[in-house]
Amino acid sequence: MEFEVFLKNKAQEFDAILAERLKMKEPETLYEAVRYLPMLGGKRLRPIMAYLSCRAHTNAPNAQAKEVYAFGTVLEMIHNFTLVHDDIMDNDEKRRGKPTVHRKYGLEAGINAGDALFAESFQFLAESSLKPEIIKILVRDVAFMSKGIVEGQQMDVDFEKEPSKITIDDYLVMIEKKTALLFQVAAKGGALIAGASEQEVSDVAEFGRLTGIAFQICDDLLDIMGDEKIIGKPVGSDIRKGKKTLMVIHAFQNAVPEDVAALKRTLGNQDARDEELREAVAVLDLAGSIAFAREIAGKYNRQARSYLSKLPDSKHKLRLSQLMEFMVSRKK
Ligand code: IPE
Ligand code: IPE
Ligand code: MG
Ligand code: MG
Ligand code: MG
Repeated sequence: MEFEVFLKNKAQEFDAILAERLKMKEPETLYEAVRYLPMLGGKRLRPIMAYLSCRAHTNAPNAQAKEVYAFGTVLEMIHNFTLVHDDIMDNDEKRRGKPTVHRKYGLEAGINAGDALFAESFQFLAESSLKPEIIKILVRDVAFMSKGIVEGQQMDVDFEKEPSKITIDDYLVMIEKKTALLFQVAAKGGALIAGASEQEVSDVAEFGRLTGIAFQICDDLLDIMGDEKIIGKPVGSDIRKGKKTLMVIHAFQNAVPEDVAALKRTLGNQDARDEELREAVAVLDLAGSIAFAREIAGKYNRQARSYLSKLPDSKHKLRLSQLMEFMVSRKK
C-alpha cells in the first residue's frame, strides 16, 4: 500500500474515535466550537506516530491496539487545543482550509473550546484501559509536555517583540518545546505501551524529538513558500506577525544592511501588502536563508534516521521512516 493511502486510512480511524469521544453536549455554543476543528480532519501525524512506534516495538499483532489508539487520540486532542489557542495568538483566519474557531465562534468560545479539549484529553487517558502504572507515567509525560508547549508558545510570541537579539539556539529551544515535544511523547508513549525496554523507549523518543524539530522548520518554510490552497492556512502569516524563524534570524546575520532594513520594515507589519511580502521572501532567498533552513531541517532529519536505524527491521519501522520523510517533505 502506498504510504499516503496508509496515512489517509489511519487518519480516518482516529477521526472516528474523536467523533465518538467529542459528542455534542450542553451548552451547544461551547461544544459546537469544541467539535469544529477536530472534525475538520487534519493529518493526525501525532497519533499515527504513537501507533507506529507501538507496533514497531512488539511482534504481537494488534497488541495494545485499543490502548494506543486512545493514547494517540489524547495527543490529537491536545494538539487541537494548542491550535485553537495558537490561532488566537497568531491572529490567523484560516486553518485546515476553513475559518479558525475564534473567527467562527468568537474569542470566548475559542478560549473555552481549547480548555475543554485539554481537559477532555486527560479524562480520556484516565478512562483508558491502559495499566494503571502506564497511565501514571503517561499522565506525567503528557502534563510535562503540555507545560513545555505553552512555554514554547510564550517564547514564540515574546520573540516577536525582540527586534534582533534572538539566536538560532533560542529558536531551536522554542520549537523543541512548542512542536517537537508532542512528537517525542507520541513516539515514547507508543513504545512504552508496547512494553519496550528503557533503551528502546529513549531511542524512539529521540527519533520523535528530532523529527519534530525538522517538521517545524518545514512548517516555517511552508508559511512563506507554500500554496495557501494546499496548506489550508494563510501564507505569509509568520512575516506579518514578526515571527523570528530560522530564516529570519539567518538573514539578520547574513543579508546586506539595506536588505536587513527592508526585511525589518515588513516583519511585524500586519497590513503588509503582498508585494512587500514577496520582497521580504526575496531578501531571505538572496541571503541564502531559505537554503540554510532546508539544510538544518535535513540535518535533523538525518539524525532522526540514525536513531530509527537502531530498531530491528519490520513493516512498522519502514512506516515510521516513511512518516518521518513525509513530515519533512510535505506540501501541506
Ligand atoms: C500544525 O500542525 C502546527 C505545527 C506544529 C506546525 P499540523 O501540520 O500537524 O496540523 P494538522 O493537524 O495536520 O492540521
Ligand atoms: C505551531 O506553530 C505550534 C503550536 C501550535 C503549538 P505555528 O504557529 O507555526 O503553527 P501554524 O503554522 O499556525 O499551524
Ligand atoms: Mg500559528
Ligand atoms: Mg504560532
Ligand atoms: Mg506555522
